[in-house]
Amino acid sequence: MRRHRSPLLVAGILAVVACGDSSSPSALDPKGDEADRLAGLWWLLFGLATAVFLVVTAFIVVGLVRGRGTSEGKGSRIGDGTFIGVGGLIVPVAVLAVVAVATVGTTKELRRPAPDPVRIDVVGKRWWWDVRYPGTAVVTANEIHVPVGRPVELALASDNVIHSFWVPQLAGKVDMIPGQRNLLRFTVTEAGTYRGQCAEYCGLQHGRMAFLVIADQPADFDRWMAARRSPPPPPTGLAAAGRDVLETTSCAGCHRVQGTTAQGVIGPDLTDFGSRSTIGALTVPNDRGNLGGWIANAQSIKTGSLMPPISVDPDELQALLAYLESLRPAAAP
Ligand code: CUA
Repeated sequence: MRRHRSPLLVAGILAVVACGDSSSPSALDPKGDEADRLAGLWWLLFGLATAVFLVVTAFIVVGLVRGRGTSEGKGSRIGDGTFIGVGGLIVPVAVLAVVAVATVGTTKELRRPAPDPVRIDVVGKRWWWDVRYPGTAVVTANEIHVPVGRPVELALASDNVIHSFWVPQLAGKVDMIPGQRNLLRFTVTEAGTYRGQCAEYCGLQHGRMAFLVIADQPADFDRWMAARRSPPPPPTGLAAAGRDVLETTSCAGCHRVQGTTAQGVIGPDLTDFGSRSTIGALTVPNDRGNLGGWIANAQSIKTGSLMPPISVDPDELQALLAYLESLRPAAAP
């Protein structure tokens, strides 16, 4: 019987390790201090659970092999009372005590404010993420740039239903609750792009409410911020015509572009739209074809989104596309 246990354990560990492949973000592949602590806690719980499982299985196997009624007096070194007292009370209490101390200790660590954090306000929308850097004019959506090695403090909120902000490789989940601001603190330890996902069911497009956290080296982060502190350079040619379309059609009712008359607040701020990698909170890549389709009928790409079909004639659409693609800070990479 014993021989069967090791392959099972190996299979279990392989299944767990397989979750850590880079194509899907795994909490067991931490790249931030908070996720690191949580992963440590996970491995402790996994280790304890495995040990308990193996011990209990061993007792079951021994019981099966020895059979019923053979334990009385024959070869049994401990009485039933002691066995139940130790196995049923002392050991579980000890295991749970270790778990409780580790969990409470870790939770306390996670809540500790760090000095001089980079503050970012993130608001959960239907179904995308509004990202602002308080004290600056920098506003973006669905892509959160942070510096590596410096504490980040996110203030998380919602103006509609409950969402949950989760970047498995960087930190634990934190709910975004209407009327409340929840703080999430972490420090990224390795530059990279980390996928985040809404982790609380919030309606039709909950599954397509994703985002990226882009952790830059501090100098790159400073450049990224500096490039966004002023409006994008004025458009020329076709893009200038596109700006007129944006300012005079329904686009301007919902979207804002810094430095223009478009000052809507319902949809994502488009000031740095051309530098963003996706449309619709990671629903499709940000390229001309998808953008044209999105403008013409976003409902066919992300049903239920608040973006209505926009009717513009083909020339206006081309100008609009050129303008939106031109919306990137002068110094952006
Ligand atoms: Cu937002 Cu689920």
